[in-house]
Amino acid sequence: MAKPRLNVAMIGYDFMGRAHANAWRQVARFFADAPFQPVLKVVVGRTQDKVQEAAARLGFEEAATSWQEVVARRDVDVVDICTPGDSHAAIAVAAAEARKAILCEKPLANTLAEAQHMADAVRRAGVVNMVCHNYRRVPAVALAKRLIDDGQLGEIRHYRGTYLQDWIVDPSFPRVWRLQKARAGSGALGDILSHTMDLSRHLVGEPVEVSGLLKTFITERPLPEEPTRRAPVDVDDSAQALVKFDNGAVGYYEGSRFAPGRKNANRFEINGAKGSLVWDLERLNELELYVESGPLSGFRTLSVTDGQHPYIAAWWPPGHIIGYEHSFTHTVYDFLRAIAAGQSPRPDFQDGLRNQQVLDAIERSSATKQWMALPSHTSEEAP
Ligand SMILES: NC(=O)c1ccc[n+]([C@@H]2O[C@H](COP(=O)([O-])OP(=O)(O)OC[C@H]3O[C@@H](n4cnc5c(N)ncnc54)[C@H](O)[C@@H]3O)[C@@H](O)[C@H]2O)c1
Repeated sequence: MAKPRLNVAMIGYDFMGRAHANAWRQVARFFADAPFQPVLKVVVGRTQDKVQEAAARLGFEEAATSWQEVVARRDVDVVDICTPGDSHAAIAVAAAEARKAILCEKPLANTLAEAQHMADAVRRAGVVNMVCHNYRRVPAVALAKRLIDDGQLGEIRHYRGTYLQDWIVDPSFPRVWRLQKARAGSGALGDILSHTMDLSRHLVGEPVEVSGLLKTFITERPLPEEPTRRAPVDVDDSAQALVKFDNGAVGYYEGSRFAPGRKNANRFEINGAKGSLVWDLERLNELELYVESGPLSGFRTLSVTDGQHPYIAAWWPPGHIIGYEHSFTHTVYDFLRAIAAGQSPRPDFQDGLRNQQVLDAIERSSATKQWMALPSHTSEEAP
């Protein structure tokens, strides 16, 4: 029987736009129980010829240059926000007011005030909403979550999360949007440490106090469109934080784009009373597990490619590995099921707001050289 169709409007079409478009195209082809058949209805950009080319390449029916008009269209069911952070709030609030389901790229917003505004808007409108922290849905990470929740590691003591890249080590690399506070909100902090922190909230517990350290190594860079002129960099190149969690665990986050040789080294190690887990995005199908087992104790590497593992049954036989792009297909799959159920999946905008509170506290802690306590939860916040 044909599935009901769900019309998707995607705003932005470059890196994340390509990843999301691929996920929307694939999800119902692989997940037989996906409750809808997504239709790539319209993609939005700022320049007519470029967005038209993107629509043809990515498989959208239409191209448009006004997100305001598109978000208000009656034939649009889902608004998928793949633009830099400076436009997330305006698009999401308009989409909520137009009663659309919303998938928004991370970090939710550029500021705490914007994140609050967005969380309020979706709550008022009662629309399904989700933030795209896709790494939660890598099968090895989902298995780690299952093992921790089952108590296999015992009480959790440590979370050690690092996300390292090297793409701006060269001082002559131009000042792209990710290096401007007005466009990106922050640097490594919001861009990559936000993923590390989101995984800690997913796997370990709620951060309650942080001590942050932000550092900008290269404070001026050439303008992309005019390389002979230089302009200030007003975001962090490296972001670190010591963290205390609500359950007594302690931890460490590090996000840096100044780690030569580390291309996308998103990694965590979790130590519990009875065992440890290690995961690294660059070997994303593997999960290293240590559990005390007498003289045969030792780390072993699980190949998380078995049909019994999370999400894998939709793909290939055991050992036929999957990749980065699948994490987006899994995100979209859970988002579709959430729309069918009328209940937002995690991480939702409330999680996005909480994440923004942590980012904000790290930033304030770095500026004041003091530990910062996080606001306590209200009943409306995620547990
Ligand atoms: N989930 C992840 O792992 C992940 C990875 C990379 C980026 N991101 C996030 O995705 C978002 C986009 O990042 P990206 O790497 O795709 O950026 P990008 O520069 O590759 O693409 C941005 C797109 O947005 C469009 N755009 C910019 N301003 C716009 C506006 N006002 N109206 C309409 N279109 C506009 C651009 O034309 C471009 O198509 C950011 O929030 C970023 O933090 C998430």
